Amino acid sequence: MNNGLEDVIAAETQLSDVDGEAGRLIIRGVSLDRLVSASTYESVAALLLDGLTERHLDAVELRKRLGEMRVGLFAHVTALDLELLALPPVDAMRALIARLPDGEDFEAALRLLAAPAVFLPAILRMKTGNEPVAPDACLSQATDILRMLTGQLPSAEQTAALDVYLVTISDHGLNASTFASRVIASTRAGLTSSVVAAISALKGPLHGGAPGPVLDMFDAIGTSDNARDWLGRALDRGERLMGFGHRIYRVRDPRADALKQALRPLVLAAQIDRQRIELAEAVEHAAVAILKERKPDRPLDVNVEFYTALLLDALGFPRESFTGVFAIGRTVGWIAHAREQALEGRLIRPRSVYIGPLPQAA
Ligand code: COA
Repeated sequence: MNNGLEDVIAAETQLSDVDGEAGRLIIRGVSLDRLVSASTYESVAALLLDGLTERHLDAVELRKRLGEMRVGLFAHVTALDLELLALPPVDAMRALIARLPDGEDFEAALRLLAAPAVFLPAILRMKTGNEPVAPDACLSQATDILRMLTGQLPSAEQTAALDVYLVTISDHGLNASTFASRVIASTRAGLTSSVVAAISALKGPLHGGAPGPVLDMFDAIGTSDNARDWLGRALDRGERLMGFGHRIYRVRDPRADALKQALRPLVLAAQIDRQRIELAEAVEHAAVAILKERKPDRPLDVNVEFYTALLLDALGFPRESFTGVFAIGRTVGWIAHAREQALEGRLIRPRSVYIGPLPQAA
């Protein structure tokens, strides 16, 4: 028995490799640093899906088809059941996605890539009493998400920052939500079912639910000189520091660096609160030091969620929506893994060891 399936290999994949010792992420043969410097959401989506459905589109064609799909999906927003708006954004988004037809073909994949990008901004606007903004088929997915969120065209720096984020989190080995997606795909249930299951796994605070609490932590710490004391007290209470630690990485999560760098243009263009960045750096520094003292046997460093919190906050996403934005970016990884599993894998059916009582002899 291996509690948490740590180190268990459950799939062969051509999609991504996470090297926890070297702190390296490779997506389809391209290292993360190269990918973020040269890619948009559409190009990484084309890369990940290549060969996994009956059609292959390059980034330019994919951008066009995604735009059309976003426009088509807006009807689901206008027909939205208002009771959904009382739910947390990721739950409301999951409910709307669950209404999409299941399928395993290119159209089903495309629909699922476009759906969260349309649904989340609309839900966020409607939750605050604003009208949803209809998609614009001519824009890139990143530009249109920000426009549908705020009602205004984003700056070039903001679009670039969101593209870096979406590329950075597009795929990441056999994490909990991706495994959930593959389990569902192994039963041949269809891509919508895979994505709904994956969102459900993602929303937990040990997986994709951490960046909202990271911002709460910044607020509670308040000033840089308070960081060490505050973090020490949190650890004294037995709490985990959000945005630190990882099941695979034993060094710094390379995605944290990619996102930290993506913040720079926003700083230079004065589109992010500089004091917030300084506070984050002080918190990171203090947390890494104190974790080293308290857990000397377990290397714990910053993970992707830490700088995600700063980046998404700067782009205008409310903190309760961060998991939903993560889902927008990760859906392509979930779909690619689901297709790979359906094409090459078997039904996933592990075994358990029974440790309960045996029936009494008569
Ligand atoms: N803060 C404080 N201690 C932490 C920690 C954190 N963020 N992450 C792990 N630890 C400690 C655990 O308490 C445990 O200590 P113990 O052996 O004294 O009990 C030890 O490190 C090993 O933890 P374990 O639960 O085995 O690690 P894991 O691989 O199961 O956990 C995470 C990985 C990501 C769930 C964990 O690091 C965590 O909870 N991080 C905070 C949430 C977060 O940022 N999630 C986003 C992940 S991308």
